[in-house]
Amino acid sequence: MSVTFHKQDSLFRLTTKNTLYAFELTHGTLVHRYYGKKRGATVPTSADIKGRVVSFSPYRDENDKAFSLDTQPLEYSYYGSGDFRPTALRIRNRHGDSVTCFEYVSHKIRRGAVDRAPLPSGRADEKTQTLDITLRDLVSDCELHLYYTVFYDCDIITRSAAVTNRSGADVVVEKLMSLCLDLAGEDYDVITLGGRHCRERTVYQRTPLFRGNLAITSRRGATSHQMNPFMAVCARGADENRGDVYGFNLVWSGSFLNECECEQTGSARIQAGLGSESFTYRLRDGETVHAPEAIMTYSPTGLGTMSRHFHDFVNRHIVPEKAKERRPVVLNSWEAFYFNINEDIMVDFAAAAADCGMDMVIMDDGWFGARVHDRAGLGDWFVNRDRFRDGLRPFVERVKATGVKFGIWVEPEMVNPDSDLYRAHPDWVVSCRERTRSLSRSQMVLDMSNPAVIDYLKASFTETFRDVPIDYFKWDMNRHISEPGSPNLAPEDQGSLSYRYMLGVYSLFDWFTKQFPHAMIENCSGGGGRYDLAMMYYTSQIWTSDNTGARDRVLIQYSSQLAYPASVMSCHVSNPKGDLHELDLKYKVAVGGILGYEFNVLNTDEAIKEEIRRQVAQYRTFDHLIQNGTHYRLASPYETELSAYYYQLGDEILLSAIHTNGSAVIGKKKTVTKLTVRTADKHASYRDLLGGGTYTGEQLRAGIEIGAFDLDETGYGAKLWHFCKL
Ligand code: DGJ
Repeated sequence: MSVTFHKQDSLFRLTTKNTLYAFELTHGTLVHRYYGKKRGATVPTSADIKGRVVSFSPYRDENDKAFSLDTQPLEYSYYGSGDFRPTALRIRNRHGDSVTCFEYVSHKIRRGAVDRAPLPSGRADEKTQTLDITLRDLVSDCELHLYYTVFYDCDIITRSAAVTNRSGADVVVEKLMSLCLDLAGEDYDVITLGGRHCRERTVYQRTPLFRGNLAITSRRGATSHQMNPFMAVCARGADENRGDVYGFNLVWSGSFLNECECEQTGSARIQAGLGSESFTYRLRDGETVHAPEAIMTYSPTGLGTMSRHFHDFVNRHIVPEKAKERRPVVLNSWEAFYFNINEDIMVDFAAAAADCGMDMVIMDDGWFGARVHDRAGLGDWFVNRDRFRDGLRPFVERVKATGVKFGIWVEPEMVNPDSDLYRAHPDWVVSCRERTRSLSRSQMVLDMSNPAVIDYLKASFTETFRDVPIDYFKWDMNRHISEPGSPNLAPEDQGSLSYRYMLGVYSLFDWFTKQFPHAMIENCSGGGGRYDLAMMYYTSQIWTSDNTGARDRVLIQYSSQLAYPASVMSCHVSNPKGDLHELDLKYKVAVGGILGYEFNVLNTDEAIKEEIRRQVAQYRTFDHLIQNGTHYRLASPYETELSAYYYQLGDEILLSAIHTNGSAVIGKKKTVTKLTVRTADKHASYRDLLGGGTYTGEQLRAGIEIGAFDLDETGYGAKLWHFCKL
C-alpha cells in the first residue's frame, strides 16, 4: 500500500519507490510532518514536538497554546483564521467575508486517480492510489476535498483541491491553490524559468529564498512564454548531482500563481495553483470547482534526479498513448513558404520530403478561408479553393502518393475580425462590454467558455476533415487574453472566464483526440508558449520555440529539459543556407529532441539535400534513445561553454556536446574537459557507432576527453557519440 493511515499515531503516510510524505491529523487539522527519503525516515508527531507560544499568533483555544494555525506546518491553509502566511483558499461567503476554517470530516483511500474531467491529470496505472480527504467549513457551508495521488515508480505525488458549495446560496471562490507545502528550514534557493517569445525558458533564475513572498505567475490566460509553471526549491548547495531538491509543476495551461514565503518559524511555505489575478469563481449551491492537479517530487541527489522523475512521469502518466509510437521526421512548410502555399507547391514539397527520407509533410498556416496573410480568415475552417482547387481530400491523396504522411495546421481558439465567423458572431469573442477589443497579431480570442463556440468548431472540423486522411495536427495559439470577459456569462461569473476558457479548450482537445484517433497532435503557442503538462496530456510533442537558431535553441532546449522530457520537445532544422557547418550544428542541436525540418527544400542544392538524407538516416539509428531513454546532464550552457548531456537506454548511450561562446554563463564560468558517462556498465566495452572508437565502461565512467571542436567564427561547434555495448 502506498497510502496508509494509522489511528495510533494519526499519521497519513504516502510512499513512493524512494520517498516518504507524511502528515498528521490533529486538532481537526492536517499538519505536515515529513517529505524526504523513505529509507531511515523518522516521522515526528505532535506527541514528540513541544509547541511553544508565539506572541501575536492567534489561538482558537487559549488553553492549548501549543497549537496555533499561524505556526503549524499545514497541509492546506485558509484565509483569515489566524494563519498569516499566504493562504491556499479564500471563499467569500453569503455574509460577505472571505474567512474559512476547514476541519477534517473523513477520508478514503482508493485505487486510481481523480476524475476531474475535462481538466487533465496524471493517468493512473495499476499501482496508482489516491487519498481523498473531506473537510468542512461550518460558516461558508462548503466542503473541501484534498486529493493526494501517488505514482509510486516515478517518485511523484500529485496534489489538488476541490470545493463544493452546500450552503444553499452562492459563494465566491477567490483563491484555490492545488498544493500547499510547509517545508522546515528556510535556506533554500528557488529555480524558475522565465522568458519571452522566441526565448522561452531561457531566463534560468536561481534565487535565494528570503523573508517575504517570492511569486511566479501568469495573468495571460496561458501558462506563457514569459513564465513556466515549473519551480524547484532546493538546498543552497544543491547542484546537478547533489543536495535536496523539491520539484513542482501544474497540470494546467492557463493563468497561475506559484509562491514561496519564508516566515518567523523558520520554514518555507510553497504553493501552486489558481491564485492569480485572473481567477475568481462564483460557486452555486451544489456545484464543485476543481483546482488543477499539481505534481511534486523530492530528490536527495540534486536536480538531475528531479528531472528524471519528471521525465519518467510525463512519459508514463501524462502523454497520450499515441505519443508512444515512433515519431515522424516532418518537413514543415512555415519557414519554407510562410503564407505562400498552394496545392502544387505542397505536393512538390511532399515529394522532396520523401526524397530526403522524411516521414511526413506538414501544411502549416495559409490553407483555409481568406488566410493568405495573418490579417484574415482565422475561424473560417474551410479549404481555400483558389489554392486547393479540388478540395482537401484529392490534394492529400496526391501528397500521400509521394510516399509521406500528411499533417495540417489549425488554430481553433482564434478569430480574425476579417472573417466570416466574426462577421456572423461578433459576440463569440473574449471581451468586456463597452471596452475596446484589443488585437494581437490581428486576431481576437474566441470565447471557449461558450458551448456554442465549441459546437461551431466541432462542426467545422468535422465537415472539413471528413474523409481526409490526416496523420497529424499542429494546434497553434498565437495571442494572450486581454479584456478577460465573456458576453455569454452573467456579471457574477465574469471572473471565472480564464478558468472556464481552459475547460473549453480541454474539452475540444478531448473531442479532437476521439474524433481523429489516428492523428497525433503537436501543440504550439507561437512556439513554446504553452509548454506545460496539460498540453502534454493531449499532445505528443510541443513546438519548443519559433526560434530555430541553433545558438538560442541550445539554451531553450537545455532549460526546457529541467522539467520536461526530450520526447515532447519538437526541434526543427531550418534554413541551412548552403553552409554545411551550420547545417551540422543545427542538426546536432535539434537531435537533443524530436527531429524535423522546416525550410524550402525545393530550392536547396543537392549537396545540402544529400547531407540531410544522411542526417535523417543517422537519426533513425538512435531516435529511440531520445524518445525513450533516460537523460543525464553533464554541462550546463548557463555555467560552462558547453551544453553536454546523454541519453541511455538498455545497452546504448547517445552522448552530445555542443560548444557555445559562453555568453549565457551566469556568474563565474566553469571549465569542463571530460564527459563522464557515470551510468555506463563498468563490466562492458562500448563501440562508438558514429566515430568508430572502442571504450571500456570504466573509461566512460572515468570520463572521456572532449577533444577539439570544429568551431565556426561564432565559437560554436558540436559532437555526437553513439555508444553501443559490444
Ligand atoms: C506560430 C507558430 O509558432 C509557427 O510555427 C507557425 O505555425 C505560425 N504560427 C503560423 O501562423
